[in-house]
Amino acid sequence: MNSTELNAIARLLVAPGKGILAADESTPTITKRFKALDIPCTEETRRAYRETLFTTPGLSEFISGVILYDETIRQKGQDGRSFVDVLRKEEIIPGIKVDKGAKPLAQFTGDKITEGLDGLRERLTEYRNLGARFTKWRAVISIGEHLPTVAALRANAHALGRFAALSQEAGLVPIVEPEILMDGDHTIDQCACTTELALKIVFDELFQQRVGFEQMLLKPNMVLAGKDCRRQPDALEIAEKTLRCLLRTVPSAVPGIVFLSGGQTDVQATENLNAINKIGGAPWQLSFSFGRALQSPALQAWKGSDENIHAAQEALFNRAKFNSLARYGHYFNDLEKETETTGV
Ligand code: 13P
Repeated sequence: MNSTELNAIARLLVAPGKGILAADESTPTITKRFKALDIPCTEETRRAYRETLFTTPGLSEFISGVILYDETIRQKGQDGRSFVDVLRKEEIIPGIKVDKGAKPLAQFTGDKITEGLDGLRERLTEYRNLGARFTKWRAVISIGEHLPTVAALRANAHALGRFAALSQEAGLVPIVEPEILMDGDHTIDQCACTTELALKIVFDELFQQRVGFEQMLLKPNMVLAGKDCRRQPDALEIAEKTLRCLLRTVPSAVPGIVFLSGGQTDVQATENLNAINKIGGAPWQLSFSFGRALQSPALQAWKGSDENIHAAQEALFNRAKFNSLARYGHYFNDLEKETETTGV
């Protein structure tokens, strides 16, 4: 796969009106999500839930790609087709999470480092043969007293660079995800400073490791106040500070920025994406790669029962549609009420 083909995939993933569904929760993470709703977590319930999501009628109108987990990329729908084939048939591009999660960074209490580089070249070859066309690696950064350290930002950026270079070598488009967490009582301005510093270091590392900017996507957090901060900014302030931070740090050669939702409610994430796109004038596509903000209402509707498949699919369809509207700044909150009253 040459650089033109990789660039074409990156651009398809951020095609107008479309975004990415992150359905790559690790088994421990999805176990937590299921447990909160009293849904038993087995390989079969995880498979059934993901099948419900992936077979949502009309999903490809708003969803360009789905990020899968190692277990999921090997699973099949009830009709015997692999999930990769189910998605491809709908012209949805399959992707894969390839990191192995964040661990404590030695000597730096409170900082984390994402692992998974050992054997990555071989795993990437296997995932590509299974049908994946893009990859994701998430670095986790906390704001706290004296955190994050520059050492942790550098270590994570280095791993993101190694991952991205190896992905491109294997013919896969890397989604580079440095996530500043919302946990804590930090202000939006602290988040802005930390996000700007993290992205500066990440792009410096990507450049040094010869990652092609045209052949990748960035998956950042929005610039937000910590969950426990007393002053919660409105969507316009979030949008302005997010965009300012990205304009200062992200090369315009990158085709798209796909935000994570990071613990915002589904409605907040859509409102903020909408406000960001309303400002306009950005050199990249500004889209979404939400996990919880796309899936939460669907999981709540499904509840682990076949009877609720239709309701779960409607819930996912609606969230995908609202986020698609938010890509143009055309979303407004009254749409939520319309779906509540009509049940559409
Ligand atoms: P959230 O949107 O739930 O933050 O998940 C996105 C993701 O892929 C995190 O790695």
